[in-house]
Amino acid sequence: MAIISKTDKLSEVRKDADRLNAKAHTADELMDRIAALLNEHMLKYNWVGFYMLEPRANPPMLALGRYRGAMTPHTRIPLNQGICGAAASSGKTVVVDDVKQDPRYLACSLETKSEIVVPVLVNGVVAGELDIDSHFPAAFGAEDRAMIEYMAQLVGRRLEKEQTTSASSRAAKS
Ligand code: SME
Repeated sequence: MAIISKTDKLSEVRKDADRLNAKAHTADELMDRIAALLNEHMLKYNWVGFYMLEPRANPPMLALGRYRGAMTPHTRIPLNQGICGAAASSGKTVVVDDVKQDPRYLACSLETKSEIVVPVLVNGVVAGELDIDSHFPAAFGAEDRAMIEYMAQLVGRRLEKEQTTSASSRAAKS
């Protein structure tokens, strides 16, 4: 059996995501496919999902979007709660090697040991985030982080395009 290095595996997954991006008709479809790709192909990515900022919510709120993995009780998360809230409010990736040691952590599953949350930016502004939980401690190293940030960028660019398209079709109608 051929043994594939982690670097090769991560680069394969990036190429798969590029292919999915070319085929997906919408950003929502792309998020669904990326969640499935990462959950199915990365052994330690046991829950993979997107949270998106609810439009016009006051106070600001993250709402669960496309995901793969067990059902979570956290379908809406305010920005001042959880690792998810921390990533969305700072606009920065948060990596937690041991969730038990992080007082911000909101538990989804007793099996979760580590977590990464990467913001999805649209024109430089946080629109949502990609959240991944692992049953393994410290599952997200520098290479994982770079690949997951790449996925979040693909989605962000796709959302940017959709916003531009809907703005120009509104302009054409007026
Ligand atoms: N653990 C997250 C909540 C979402 S679940 O991981 C799916 C948090 O602390 O924000």
